[in-house]
Amino acid sequence: MRAFLNGKFVDRKEKIIRLEDSGLTFADGLFEVLRIINGIPLFFDDHINRMKKSAEYFNISFPYEIEYIKNVLRELIETNEIYDGEVYIELTRGTDLFREHKYQKSYEPTFFILTSPLRNIDPKNWESGASVFTYPDLRHTLCEHKTINLLPNVLAKNYAYNRGGYEALMYRKDSKGKYITEGGSSNYFIVKDRVIYTPEIDNILPGITREKVIQLSKTMGYSVVEKRVYLDEVFEADEIFLVSTVSKIMSIKKIDHTLFDGPPLITKDLIQRFNEFINLLI
Ligand code: PDD
Repeated sequence: MRAFLNGKFVDRKEKIIRLEDSGLTFADGLFEVLRIINGIPLFFDDHINRMKKSAEYFNISFPYEIEYIKNVLRELIETNEIYDGEVYIELTRGTDLFREHKYQKSYEPTFFILTSPLRNIDPKNWESGASVFTYPDLRHTLCEHKTINLLPNVLAKNYAYNRGGYEALMYRKDSKGKYITEGGSSNYFIVKDRVIYTPEIDNILPGITREKVIQLSKTMGYSVVEKRVYLDEVFEADEIFLVSTVSKIMSIKKIDHTLFDGPPLITKDLIQRFNEFINLLI
């Protein structure tokens, strides 16, 4: 399997990242995950622009033009014959020989792309809904950026996996109680009395799928409210669903030990319309 690293196509098994890479020593970097369907990387510009914006925010230099990355990715997809799968892109600040917290402007960033077959997900999660578990959101205050700092997400998701769940819903607390921020690697929506709610972008990832689903819901005539969503509201919702590049739209049937057994009609409607929308792009 081939990969792309710092201007060259390389073998994925080669040991070519410097041990002193600031991504390894400080988790000082960003990543993106894209979905490939029929050989097309979906929402490519949205993903690269999100990474570029965060790179600017953190003063990490962004090494390539969008068109160049698009061509490299096209070549990788063809060489690796991944027509239905995932792309992982990582950008780190670069090699820092002395592990200094003070970074230099002269660092050459590390930029690599991997393409892989789609991760193994039990299709039952889409067919009959996923089980999720609530877990404290132990993260920092930079969650509007897709940083490679993922230890709290890994803990949250493994808490869910160990209990047979698909995803963790992470919560923080304010004076009104617990509110759910997002999933370990997804955003979420709830539906109550035909109104669709999702957390506003307040220290959560501005997900590409989230934005597409908001736009789609509005064109379908639904009202969408972006606001802090409390745990009580989640448990009282008529429907709840996850959204992400990998999960697309996935209905949730159980949170902790509470079952949602009403028919997820609006979720199903959105899934169908979202798939139609994607079919127009591939
Ligand atoms: N995760 N929130 C978090 C914390 C995420 O890691 C992700 C994506 C999302 C959804 O964003 P998008 O719609 O842009 O994929 C929300 C990817 C899929 C991952 O870590 O594999």
